[in-house]
Amino acid sequence: MILIKNGRVMDPKTGFDQIGDVVLNDGKIWSVGEKTQGEFEQVIDAKGCIVAPGLIDVHVHFRDPGFTYKEDMITGSQAAAAGGFTTVVCMANTNPVVDNVDTLKEILERAKAMPIRVLQASAVSKGLKGKELVDFRSMKEAGAAGFTDDGIPLMDAGMLKKAMEMAKECDLPISLHEEDPAFIDAPGVNQGEVSKKLGYGGASALAEDVMVARDVMIAMETGAAVDIQHISSGNSVDLVRFARAHGADVAAEASPHHFSLTEEAVLEHGTLARMNPPLRTEWDRQKIIEGLKDGTIAMIATDHAPHSKEEKERVLSKAPSGIIGLETALALGITNLVKEGHLTMMELLEKMTINPARFYHLEQGSIEVSKPADLVIFCPDESYVVDGFCSKASNSPFIGAELYGKIKYTICDGKVVFEN
Ligand code: DOR
Ligand code: ZN
Repeated sequence: MILIKNGRVMDPKTGFDQIGDVVLNDGKIWSVGEKTQGEFEQVIDAKGCIVAPGLIDVHVHFRDPGFTYKEDMITGSQAAAAGGFTTVVCMANTNPVVDNVDTLKEILERAKAMPIRVLQASAVSKGLKGKELVDFRSMKEAGAAGFTDDGIPLMDAGMLKKAMEMAKECDLPISLHEEDPAFIDAPGVNQGEVSKKLGYGGASALAEDVMVARDVMIAMETGAAVDIQHISSGNSVDLVRFARAHGADVAAEASPHHFSLTEEAVLEHGTLARMNPPLRTEWDRQKIIEGLKDGTIAMIATDHAPHSKEEKERVLSKAPSGIIGLETALALGITNLVKEGHLTMMELLEKMTINPARFYHLEQGSIEVSKPADLVIFCPDESYVVDGFCSKASNSPFIGAELYGKIKYTICDGKVVFEN
């Protein structure tokens, strides 16, 4: 038994918010709130800290198999634990692509040995080529957490409608990377003031908007649970709001970089601020914050996208898109959303625990008796400077930033998997 005492226990599922004790036993929550005495294997004093459900990230790239020079399942899991995450969903753009049962099973078999819960999404199309659908039913049976061709947009609307119908039949979400290449002159940087300054083609917000407009309508028609990934454009936030108001089962993810930074970051951080979809304008950032506030954007997901130093040292046009995010996500939420007065701590936690759990049908995401003992303990008022990562990669524009919200412990399945 582990006793966590004196912490502010916050459960966004039940609304529980009290200073008290939490006892863990045999991988499960044993008691919540009551002052507890007795014999324990470990006692954690959480005074001044928040005790929350382990964080859930439905959008990460662990690059395993195929690109393990960038990250692998072990280092990715360590980065997750260091960031307070106890459940992650890995994207399917690996090599081989996760478009078949054998690859999926091999990953899920190795995942069992990880310190955190590593789930895996299936691709939507064979080889991420957007031409032929995977076998949805057998991927669901083999344990896929959802379906996505993340990294690549699905351009064939007819095929996407079939994919949504299959996802609905499997009762799993389908998540979409929304960028129409017709409006991308060069990826990774917003088409606007900054791209003009740099003489770089850029990717227009229109690329996202036309895809989101199309896909929320197909979602409305099919009734599928659709997750708009890493929403970056203000108009797209409005489109998601419209779809939800009309009964579509559409959720959106905001990534910490899209609510924290704008296109200006490319001038300061170069390739470390290149990602798909790109950082946009302050207007877009404010629209994302507005969407987070009014519930249009239900989830925060990192799009943890590790790349090697060599790759990110290339010139802007040749470097790959993406930044790591697991180890800075909670602190960016606290610093830029909670401390700025946009969200309450409970609202932030909702978007990083129970909302993703509900959308992906996971039993995690709350602190309730007899539920899995997955917890994060962090000090919201303690600041620190970002310097170094557990991830194999360090492609982050937040190195050197001073952030609030230091993680003290991450506990998964009743075991301490990170301590600081
Ligand atoms: O910037 C990105 N990088 N966006 C994506 O959607 C994919 C990711 C990657 O795999 O590197
Ligand atoms: Zn993506």
